[in-house]
Amino acid sequence: MLEVLRLAECEALERLEEVGSGSELADWRRTHLGRKSRLASVTGSLGSLPPEQRPAAGKLANEVKDRLLGAMKGKAQTLGADRRVHSADVSLPGRSVGAGRLHPITTTLLRMKAAFRQMGFQVVKGPDVESEEYNFSLLNFPPNHPARDSYDSFYTLRPDVLLRTHTSPAQVRIMRQSGAPVRAVVPGACYRYDQPDASHNIMFYQMEGLAIGEEIRMTDLLGAISALTKALFGKESRLRFRGHYFPFTEPSIETDLACTVCDGYGCRLCKDSGWVEIIPGGMVHPNVLRNGGIDPARYTGFAFGAGVDRIAALWYRIPDIRCLYDNDLRFLEQFG
Ligand code: DAH
Repeated sequence: MLEVLRLAECEALERLEEVGSGSELADWRRTHLGRKSRLASVTGSLGSLPPEQRPAAGKLANEVKDRLLGAMKGKAQTLGADRRVHSADVSLPGRSVGAGRLHPITTTLLRMKAAFRQMGFQVVKGPDVESEEYNFSLLNFPPNHPARDSYDSFYTLRPDVLLRTHTSPAQVRIMRQSGAPVRAVVPGACYRYDQPDASHNIMFYQMEGLAIGEEIRMTDLLGAISALTKALFGKESRLRFRGHYFPFTEPSIETDLACTVCDGYGCRLCKDSGWVEIIPGGMVHPNVLRNGGIDPARYTGFAFGAGVDRIAALWYRIPDIRCLYDNDLRFLEQFG
């Protein structure tokens, strides 16, 4: 046994002479000090020796191991600090791996979906490429009505197919699919041929909401919007509702949140008004209910289209939603 150890040591030291690089040294370490090395098999079989021989053999095995480790460290130094060898030294600090994180829009969508799930809404999807019928006609936009112009649309080569300008087409899809009663939100990207500024972009996220039942009222809409903003921004956040017009809701409202970026002192996001429009909505127009196959004499419903980018900007206090889409890691790394 002692002989085997001495031989193993001699051979290992001889091989070490030939080692010329860090990776060769790592291989050498595996062969001569690793789990399958001769040294390891001797150490493993010490128990089978007669008891009186065990202490001497064990002592020699330890000494050989120490000498080989010492020789290896010396070699590593002469090779110039090589990482693969040094990484074997468990006392060295590890190399840090850059951690990924969620995009602020993704985090905002997750928070919004969680808040709506708590209110009993299911989360569903709609297509990004829509028919004009779902995007406009079924939502009670009359043909050639100027309201269509306010959604400067990206059309495809087919005149009746476009990138959805809002998530509202999902309303009729949901009604046709699940009937009433129903509660659902639809997050998704929307596209408009718009002039970008601090609160507009050609691609942005909305979260459509739809609730239909036998006794749904305007106060339910206001309650749902208040519950969402409280869940996202806390109890002290300030909201205001204003009357508005949309072809697919009657009556319609717009919801403003007190600007968190400037606290009312004035900034690009709120256009110095102290308020940012975040959630338009209203009571689903009877024509839209009919288009969805739902009887407006029996059911009523509310709908809204929350502006996810603006909500994200207000939460992270970013004064310009376009920053969210520049994909500048130095900027995005601050959030999420
Ligand atoms: N789709 C509208 C837009 O993008 C927003 C909207 C308004 C959605 C009223 C609604 C609603 O569901 O009821 O401008």
